[in-house]
Amino acid sequence: MNAENNIQTINIGILGFGTVGQGTWKHLEENGQFWQKILGVQVIPRRASVRSLDKQRKVKIPASALTTDSQSIVDDPEIDLICELIGGIEEAKSLTLRAFEKGKSVVTANKALICEHGDELFEAAEKAGVQYGFEASVAGGIPIIKVLRESMVANEFPLIYGILNGTSNYILTRMEKEGVSFEEVLTDARELGYVEADEALDLDGVDAAHKAVILAYLAHGIWVDLEDITVEGIRRISIEDLQAARKLGCKIKLIGMIRRNFDNNHISVGVYPALVPMDEIIARTDGVYNGISLTGSVVGTVVLTGRGAGQDPTAGSVISDIVDVVKAKKGISGFCKLRHVSPEECKPAKAVEIEGSFYIRLTVEDRPGQLAKVADCLAEHDVSLATVSQSPKNESATASVILTTHDTNEHSMSMAIQSLEKLEGVNEKPVLFRVFDPNSFSKE
Ligand code: HSE
Repeated sequence: MNAENNIQTINIGILGFGTVGQGTWKHLEENGQFWQKILGVQVIPRRASVRSLDKQRKVKIPASALTTDSQSIVDDPEIDLICELIGGIEEAKSLTLRAFEKGKSVVTANKALICEHGDELFEAAEKAGVQYGFEASVAGGIPIIKVLRESMVANEFPLIYGILNGTSNYILTRMEKEGVSFEEVLTDARELGYVEADEALDLDGVDAAHKAVILAYLAHGIWVDLEDITVEGIRRISIEDLQAARKLGCKIKLIGMIRRNFDNNHISVGVYPALVPMDEIIARTDGVYNGISLTGSVVGTVVLTGRGAGQDPTAGSVISDIVDVVKAKKGISGFCKLRHVSPEECKPAKAVEIEGSFYIRLTVEDRPGQLAKVADCLAEHDVSLATVSQSPKNESATASVILTTHDTNEHSMSMAIQSLEKLEGVNEKPVLFRVFDPNSFSKE
């Protein structure tokens, strides 16, 4: 594609203003200045198509931006890039091909369409000199497409397997952890909006199979026919099965499996419930999360886990494809100053601002009042003890004291350790480790 370095604006048309369409609009709009900064163009969501104009939607956009006529967006000369988020096959396919004919790149989350017609669509995009981005089609927010196509390009893949459907994983996790029946959890999942309108996609393994076929194509370059592979769902899994699996040191997960035997060069793809040993990360990937384990000939095994569905994660993947299209149009290659900020905008945190709790091991003289002196020393610096345990070292009249603290900060802890080092009766340099609490960092 020729670089069009003088482009000032990229206008986005979104076909299908459901969960992912609205998320894409929201994040494009909210971060408008950021796109301008990193890409040197304004990326503006302009129009969206819906089935009904009357339906209430969480993301509010001007009425004039909405239409029931998707094709009018594809044909609109003001629209530069199309996000196809309507799902389904026939209409999505003809709109995508039409966009290519008009020289417009398309970004999609439509796994069924790619699984059925990927070859034809990729060829049409190439012929038209445009891009077809589909990061959002497999495992929502997990960047698996880029990882396969770019990051792990040096590898051949004897094995790729994992959890590719969040809804079925949510159901199995609750059945297993809470002992609640399939029907009961399914009712909750429906209420939470997790289950596709066509429930067979989630419950009978079809959605996971679409994704497995795409992964097989990316890893091995061949399209496997859905009709020719084993596709089973989760309807026959009982609580009894889940408990029996646990006794065998496993969990039952709905697994998408892509294997290649490099001796005879045969590839097998399937989706089915499988007992996965508990020491596999995939077995411990629960709830609506997806997880994909890739065994590469060069790197060994890499496991990616994260949110495989939902508005924000999937919109994030759609936007990453949009950014790629814009970079190609602008001729921006390689390093892009993503997330760079000026020293005025962002500064390194001071020690006093960095909070956390700590583990301290001291070797102290084993005599009355020693522990009280240690506690006083910590208290002087506002460090509060959470746990204390002491084991005597018989031969030397010293004791090993292991302490953990409540939340404090790096500055207080550093001052406290300096004092402890000088404290009478503390014989060796204190050992200090940070206690990592992922919840204190999580935005979830
Ligand atoms: N129904 C799908 C899932 C949505 O549960 O994973 C994302 O493809």
